[in-house]
Amino acid sequence: MTANTSDQKYRGKLAVLYEGQGDIVLFQQLAESLAVPLYQSLNPDVQESFFLSWRDGCLKLLDRDLLKKGGLVVNIEPRNGEQRSWPAPKQGALAQSLGRKTRTVVDATTGWGQDSLHIFRMGYELLCMERSPVMTELLLDGFKRLAQQDWMQRLNLQAPGLLTGNAIDLLANLETRPDCIYLDPMFPPKRKKSAIAKKSMMILRDLLGNDEDKEQLFAAALRAAGKRVVVKSPDYAKPLGAKPDEIFQGKLLRYDVYFKG
Ligand SMILES: C[S@@+](CC[C@H](N)C(=O)[O-])C[C@H]1O[C@@H](n2cnc3c(N)ncnc32)[C@H](O)[C@@H]1O
Repeated sequence: MTANTSDQKYRGKLAVLYEGQGDIVLFQQLAESLAVPLYQSLNPDVQESFFLSWRDGCLKLLDRDLLKKGGLVVNIEPRNGEQRSWPAPKQGALAQSLGRKTRTVVDATTGWGQDSLHIFRMGYELLCMERSPVMTELLLDGFKRLAQQDWMQRLNLQAPGLLTGNAIDLLANLETRPDCIYLDPMFPPKRKKSAIAKKSMMILRDLLGNDEDKEQLFAAALRAAGKRVVVKSPDYAKPLGAKPDEIFQGKLLRYDVYFKG
């Protein structure tokens, strides 16, 4: 992947950290592709607050708090309560919002891939999109680990496809219309520092900011979807579009569903 203008966002914020383990060439390539510095130790002059490093065989995103504690990865394990079979039953608010007749889904805001992987494990045909080069690297690492799982190989399954770029453009160039386009853009928090916001989402907001173009993304999704668009929103946020055709309530969030006319 080559550096692009969105990488400017990371200047002074993000670096790659080599901690003496693994092939340094991989770390160099990652730093180069993201146009960020590579450090082998953190001396007091280091100004960046976020770091990427391979630890325990996974690419991890760290902030200064996490440097000692481990780091955040794309977690490929099923969520609590999710059945460990493939395909897992299409149950719960997310599956209901995707619709009973849906086969193909595009997740246009993949982020940490947790909704994507849930959708994938329920057996939908899934294509992922993500514009942040950092999140793309973390997702590629997670999808590579997923492809190596015994159950994936036994069932001869491929990890989901991943397109990097702004989904507003990517959706306009899809060759076939997916039944459903799924959106989970970053909304501003209700309070400045929400105690209940997950660390993974807080770090994403700190690194990438809010997704200010979500209305344009929603419009692009409505144009490109075959049957429906689903928007995951915090329960306090206004719907992205007009009144949703259906709403499915989750814990502190809701899925707003818009049918194609
Ligand atoms: C709130 S996070 C999504 C979390 C995700 N649903 C999960 O389960 O981990 C939003 C992500 O969408 C990405 N995103 C937002 N707008 C986008 C766009 N127009 N094109 C591509 N990616 C976008 C952001 O970079 C961010 O990584």
